[in-house]
Amino acid sequence: MFDAGTTCLVVVGAQWGDEGKGKLVDVLAERADVVVRYQGGANAGHTVVIGDSQFILRQIPSGILHPGVVCVVGNGVVLEPETFFAELDHLAQRQVDTTGRIFVSDRAHLVLPYHKLLDAASEKSQKLGTTGRGIGPAYEDKYGRRGIRVTDLRRLECARALLAAGVERANRLLELMGSSERASFEEHAALLERLAPRLVPLAADAGLLVHRAVREGRRVLLEGAQGSLLDVDHGTYPYVTSSNTTAGGAAVGAGIGPTLIHGVLGVVKAYTTRVGNGPLPTEAPSPFGEQLRQLGGEFGAVTGRPRRCGWFDATVVRYAARVNGLTGLAVTKLDVLDTFDEIPVCTAYALGADRCEEMPAEVELLGHVRPQYEVLPGWRRPTGSARRLADLPAEARAYLDRLQALSGVPARYVSVGTRRDQIIEVEG
Ligand code: IMP
Repeated sequence: MFDAGTTCLVVVGAQWGDEGKGKLVDVLAERADVVVRYQGGANAGHTVVIGDSQFILRQIPSGILHPGVVCVVGNGVVLEPETFFAELDHLAQRQVDTTGRIFVSDRAHLVLPYHKLLDAASEKSQKLGTTGRGIGPAYEDKYGRRGIRVTDLRRLECARALLAAGVERANRLLELMGSSERASFEEHAALLERLAPRLVPLAADAGLLVHRAVREGRRVLLEGAQGSLLDVDHGTYPYVTSSNTTAGGAAVGAGIGPTLIHGVLGVVKAYTTRVGNGPLPTEAPSPFGEQLRQLGGEFGAVTGRPRRCGWFDATVVRYAARVNGLTGLAVTKLDVLDTFDEIPVCTAYALGADRCEEMPAEVELLGHVRPQYEVLPGWRRPTGSARRLADLPAEARAYLDRLQALSGVPARYVSVGTRRDQIIEVEG
């Protein structure tokens, strides 16, 4: 999608996450100069397969696997420093040289162990099915204006004061929530003291770095985590994550103005999955849900939880197209549908006697809608070796045409397997 006038692109998930954004960013990064993660944290698990090796990236942008690409963790991310360095070390062990090309916004907030304790305690009463990585509590501290930012580590005495208040508050909350867990100030202080000397040298004014790169005409990818239906404003609230996963969040979370962004690629699976609680209108009944899960390997990259699986929901993708301003689609995992005789696609919902073409704000209503299906013929042939659209069976092409027509967005990429060479770039 990069061309002369399009040098700054956002890649977002247009469903409930796990659409294969990491794989797309990895392929697009081949042509990029800079890749930026703009929200979320270690709750993400971007899986990229190169040859026989699989990489799962949680906080480091998927562009890191391409030598020379500069990777930036933006201010909108909540960074779990320990996991971040474990990821960097793991990459080093696998001969991925990250020296001098990874930067962390000095405005990014930290996720600390007490955030995870609070996340776990909160799950006992408000069962959202979070990843348990402390994401919600860390964003609560950010918006409560008491968070600890990367820049605070430049002056450890300042970080220690913030930490003392944070630990004390967390322990009060844990007690209130009936949890027997308590956070230790000494352990937290020791953690920051140990990690600060590694983190501070990577800290940068990331917004400035990204702004300059776009202004100089370099190719910049803004990589979203999770999916649009998990966006704290536009998702199936309260069953959402705590950040703005949608394209608007990309400008804020990367630290640039929205007018610098030229295009938004929405990644969708050829069907639908969701992990965690909350409504999933097109969840497939047995045995199809189980078949999709097995064929698609639908188990969470971070938590290992089985993903709930269902048919493609055009109401969801139309909505994602609108709230993100999508300019292109990437349809992933088409090959997972290779063995189905018939493939239902949800075109709209019925709610009582009414037809409903838009996503309702009330999560309870979404739990009661009846998906209206159109059933398309399957192709019952393997597609994994297709390298051009023309190599796909006619039924598979018709299926893709229908998804594009229902979503109102043209497909720019189609993936038929996990490897880099199994991504078809759509001409034009
Ligand atoms: P949290 O982000 O850990 O607070 O979890 C909130 C909701 O978002 C839960 O339903 C999680 O399962 C979901 N979630 C968070 N990260 C991901 C992801 O990377 N893929 C899919 N779902 C996610």
